[in-house]
Amino acid sequence: MDEKKKIIVTGGAGYIGSHTVVALIENGYEPIVIDDFRNSQKAVVANLEKITGQKLSVHAIDCCNEEAVRNLFASEKPMGIIHFAAYKAVGESVENPLMYYQNNLQSLVVLLKMVKEFKVETFVFSSSCTVYGEPKGAISVDEGFPIAKAFSPYGQTKIICEQIIEDFHKSHPEGKMICLRYFNPVGAHESALIGEYPIGKPNNLLPFITQTAIGKREILTIFGKDYDTPDGTCIRDYIHVCDLAEAHVRSIAFLEKQNRGLLDAVNVGTGKGTSVKEMVDTFEEATGVELKHQFGPRRQGDVPAIYANNEKMQRVLGFTPQKTIRDSITSAWNWEKYIHENESSK
Ligand code: UD1
Repeated sequence: MDEKKKIIVTGGAGYIGSHTVVALIENGYEPIVIDDFRNSQKAVVANLEKITGQKLSVHAIDCCNEEAVRNLFASEKPMGIIHFAAYKAVGESVENPLMYYQNNLQSLVVLLKMVKEFKVETFVFSSSCTVYGEPKGAISVDEGFPIAKAFSPYGQTKIICEQIIEDFHKSHPEGKMICLRYFNPVGAHESALIGEYPIGKPNNLLPFITQTAIGKREILTIFGKDYDTPDGTCIRDYIHVCDLAEAHVRSIAFLEKQNRGLLDAVNVGTGKGTSVKEMVDTFEEATGVELKHQFGPRRQGDVPAIYANNEKMQRVLGFTPQKTIRDSITSAWNWEKYIHENESSK
């Protein structure tokens, strides 16, 4: 019988990690989840098992705990790693930068040690378009854009992590490694059993929209209406989380096929920009639910408009996102309703 290829997924109970676990199983891989549930829900595991019909291998280990991570690698001997586990709240990172540097950098260093010690063939890192900062004179950004200084310690950890990976690769050129630079991940699995579960007040737009619509929040404030964009509101590239998950599987498959080491960075976005106002209008139109909203001042640090040039993703990974903005919004809404039903039945 064919042994399935084992992939360590750190942060596999988190938002993007959990959707990637599903995509890996659907594509014949065996995910081994490392997640200590500090920012994720234990219920995700049971729901993943419901979606996939499989028992999952889950290890409640802190990725910074080198000994525990090493023991797991020694017993599992994985062929690949997808490293999601990291802190990601911009505001929190400003208040507590050391926590961000310690956790996000140290966990990466531990995993790279494992790559070397256990000759792990493939490595995919969860990076962000935040590494481009505010790109001057362009709104469609390709991977050739210079890395800027980030606005927050969170963003800075992504830049430093990419730098660590680059330096590591020079010393370990046989490694096959990709940094995926995500634009704005949104939406949820079509089963509505997994999705984004913001802890506390959400910062990102779509969870804020769905929480307002369900009555958890009073009103959505659109930050700024006088930007130099067609409707005056900011433009982003919202990518459905299932498309993003698929991009990880394609990355692993692509790396596996290479017969020599390589390191590359690839944007993951739809290549299309959508304004905040368009998100609000599409939400109302797709769900039939009226969304209470108002305009407020600009949010500090916001880039007026940015979206991905995703040509490299299509060329290198052979992948084009399949879902529409409407799919993202509808699935996020179904997920919000699922959370609401579960919380109110408790
Ligand atoms: C934010 C982070 C970025 C991080 C990304 C992760 C900032 C400045 N940037 O990006 O570092 O990588 O999340 O997903 O925090 N908006 C409103 N009202 C709201 C919430 C958002 O109008 O209540 C607007 C924002 O001004 C922005 C758009 O919606 O124009 C998207 O915001 P958000 O989801 O926070 O994503 P980013 O700003 O792109």
